[in-house]
Amino acid sequence: MRAWMNGRLLTDPEQPALSVIDHGVTVGDGVFEAIKVVENVPFALTRHLNRLATSAAGLGLPAPDLAEVRRGVAAVLEGQDLPLGRVRITFTGGPAPMGSGRGDEPPTLIVAAGPMAPYEPTTAVVTVPWPRNERGALAGLKTTSYAENVVALAHAQERGASEAIFENLAGHLCEGTGSNVFYVLDGELRTPTLASGCLAGVTRALLVDWCGATEIDEPISVLAEATEMFLASTTRDVQAVHLADGRELVAPGPVTREAMATWVTREAENPDP
Ligand SMILES: Cc1ncc(COP(=O)(O)O)c(C=O)c1O
Repeated sequence: MRAWMNGRLLTDPEQPALSVIDHGVTVGDGVFEAIKVVENVPFALTRHLNRLATSAAGLGLPAPDLAEVRRGVAAVLEGQDLPLGRVRITFTGGPAPMGSGRGDEPPTLIVAAGPMAPYEPTTAVVTVPWPRNERGALAGLKTTSYAENVVALAHAQERGASEAIFENLAGHLCEGTGSNVFYVLDGELRTPTLASGCLAGVTRALLVDWCGATEIDEPISVLAEATEMFLASTTRDVQAVHLADGRELVAPGPVTREAMATWVTREAENPDP
């Protein structure tokens, strides 16, 4: 792994570098991005930087200097040999008093890069008993307050699944802990709308454009009727689901197979680098 923080490359990325009172650490007051790297080149970087800025604005953090973030990304990738990797950008409220109130120190900007293992082509998912709050202050933002996802993912992993699926407060299908959900019903490819409270996934948006998926909010029980299902994310690309709450699905089914093929072809164009 290589890491860069507040304008300089760290000589040892494993050594402590962050203030113990950084608001990102003490109360999860920060935003982040995870970006796929293929042959040392970040995928759709501009889309990720735009979402970083949107998340920061949603949290009321200062606007990140995106040119500086790009310099950090270039610094952690320079001279690396990453056939498949991940860049992680973290932007926090910076050092602050130990409570929820913000301090007046500048924000902290961290960029790190390391290798990424390819995901299995198919996977199992389980729905979890905790809802996403689509009306909450953090809805749709990619914040470092991700402990709900940690709990849900652990719940799924204890049940032999690699992803946990949330419904929202309205009882509608929402998203996974780190992925968006697509499914096929009546032969139509569908995915929840952004109003469901799901993250505006970069992979999701590209797939909606490229495959023409219908954005619709439906009760989470649609998963019991879906003929196909797949997860979409930076780390999974298009990953077919073969088991959803113990129900077997064809994986990949014909629609998923087409989405996978489209993804592989169009990804090579690297939109919005
Ligand atoms: C909660 C959540 N939903 C969806 C996604 C998928 O987004 P993307 O395709 O931009 O990786 C992520 C990404 O990690 C996520 O954290």
